[in-house]
Amino acid sequence: LLLDEATSALDTTSERVVQAAIDEIMQKQRRTTVTIAHRLSTIRHADKIAVVDQGVVVEQGTWDELVAIDGGKFQELANRQPAPAPDEAAVPADADDDVLITAYPSLVSSTSRTTAGAGDTALLPHSPLPPGQHFQWSGKAGAPELSVGKHDEKEWVFWRVSRLQKRGDGLLLAIGSFFSMLDGWAVPALGFAFTKLSVSLFRTDPGRIHDDVIFWAIAYVAIGFAFVPVVTCELGLFGMTGEHLTRNLRAVSIRSLVKQEIGFFDDPENSAGALTLFLGEKLTLVQAVNGEKLAVAIRQISTICFGTFLVFKYGYWQLGVVMLASAPVMAVAMGLLLVVVFGIKNPRPTGEGPQAQKNVGSLVGEVVLGIRTVASYGAERRFYEEYERTCDTQLRQATRASALTGCAVGIGKGAPVIFIGAVCYYGCILITADVEKLTANIMKMFLDPDAVADGDIQADAVTGCADAQIYELLEKFLIPVMVIFFMSIGMGAVGVIVTDSQNALSAARLLFALLSRRSRIDPTDNKGTRLRGLRGDISVQNVIFAYPAAPDHIICNGYSLEIGAGQTCALCGPSGSGKSTIINLIERFYDPISGAVFLDGVDLRNINVRWLRSQIALVGQEPVLFLG
Ligand SMILES: Nc1ncnc2c1ncn2[C@@H]1O[C@H](COP(=O)(O)OP(=O)(O)OP(=O)(O)O)[C@@H](O)[C@H]1O
Ligand SMILES: [Mg+2]
Repeated sequence: LLLDEATSALDTTSERVVQAAIDEIMQKQRRTTVTIAHRLSTIRHADKIAVVDQGVVVEQGTWDELVAIDGGKFQELANRQPAPAPDEAAVPADADDDVLITAYPSLVSSTSRTTAGAGDTALLPHSPLPPGQHFQWSGKAGAPELSVGKHDEKEWVFWRVSRLQKRGDGLLLAIGSFFSMLDGWAVPALGFAFTKLSVSLFRTDPGRIHDDVIFWAIAYVAIGFAFVPVVTCELGLFGMTGEHLTRNLRAVSIRSLVKQEIGFFDDPENSAGALTLFLGEKLTLVQAVNGEKLAVAIRQISTICFGTFLVFKYGYWQLGVVMLASAPVMAVAMGLLLVVVFGIKNPRPTGEGPQAQKNVGSLVGEVVLGIRTVASYGAERRFYEEYERTCDTQLRQATRASALTGCAVGIGKGAPVIFIGAVCYYGCILITADVEKLTANIMKMFLDPDAVADGDIQADAVTGCADAQIYELLEKFLIPVMVIFFMSIGMGAVGVIVTDSQNALSAARLLFALLSRRSRIDPTDNKGTRLRGLRGDISVQNVIFAYPAAPDHIICNGYSLEIGAGQTCALCGPSGSGKSTIINLIERFYDPISGAVFLDGVDLRNINVRWLRSQIALVGQEPVLFLG
């Protein structure tokens, strides 16, 4: 039973009731009890009292033994608070908060950091680490927001994300991809139908014009109707699988988070704000790329493939070749631009931008959690100003990134239009040559009618030139131009997808860094022994400890304490002397840097964490009531 100033948050009446209940539990069941006392009267009957000062146990013994030590720390404490009579109620009815142990100014000042060097302890808080000691608690280096350490960046993250899809979603995605492909076909198909419809108007036969135009108009209507089921299935399926993925991403993240050791959460980088941001916004980003953005990507690829096919089949093949040849050039140009955009959007984690983003998250978390403290100090304005400053830093970075993203999207939209101009120019050269050839043939026919009879000139080429030949040439020229024009409309979206993918990539990296982070004390780990016939001997031996968040501030400095099974041991000492820290070590919230804590002679590190904690009842210093 671990009682860390269990009744300190209660009023004196409730305190008396609760203390009586605790005393009763302790008397009825001989549990090993460590109690931290904020009122000496509550530990009058403890089997052992240990006085903690500057991270070491300076005195220990029973009440009577300790008060008998002249000039001892405990005597000093006891003299300041009238000793309760052996039969006195644990909490006197007139107990006053002024006589709390932690409120003894003289003791606090005698052990304060400014007097380091005084006293009988070997090392004092804030003393440098012993030679050869090196602590690396969190893998901060290289991790953009959560301090989750490094991870294997070689594996393609989107492949890893896909593996987190719900079982059976692969099929839904495949069906969704099929509909994306159909959706992608629609764009060049519309270009093709529009060209056919326009060119029909150049026919000389009015009946044919009517039939053709009606046919292609109906084709338009059909494509329009087809959009409804195709896009419904496409976005519906991608949306559904995307939501499944978000759920799974959140589930694996939270599973990974809760098994991290307490020290992980002490790091301000892993504050409530940062983690909420990660679970909310960032994971949705990862999902979007594997869901809705993936649909757009498939649609664009299908558009390009089908468009190229139409150009080769119905247009000048030379224009198709130009189209294919220019694709890699455009891709490289686009890629280079996006590298620049990505560089700005995701600067080095040490830069001011990411630092600002982290700070915003932790600041909000800190203020919300400590809103009463903020309010009581009237520090709202300070936090508000600090928040604004942090936002301004983000703003500067975001403005640059927005300009460059706009530039990337602009190039994505403009490049195809420039390309259309080039295609028109080259197509014009091709069609002019063909028309010249046709005209030459007609001229030749008029000048030399025998050539038709000799077979030098195809008769039908001449007779049908005004209609079929010109019509065909127009199609060969216009189909590539119109198909590319229609395709260019959606090309701007590619730039957005790629920039979004870059953001998602960094979020996904963060996710996998978290997933691959091994907790230093994992409560879900089945390893470790479960002691049979637990007695409850606790032994703290030469523990040196510093909190991961402040590795240079040594809290326990060669701390040793033996607590026999079934005994009650009270810890007392000034505020900040490390009393709660020992409770944290017994619960194995943290591991000592050196030395060890033993339960029944077994090092806690060799005991199953979940089992260990299930054997301990803890009443914390600042109890928090959980919802649910
Ligand atoms: N999670 C943490 N990260 C960094 N430092 C911490 C952490 N928890 C406590 N500390 C520091 O460790 C020191 C010892 O803290 P501890 O809570 O053990 O004191 P205590 O003796 O219980 O004091 P109190 O009587 O006020 O409860 C203090 O200086 C405190 O600021
Ligand atoms: Mg405490």
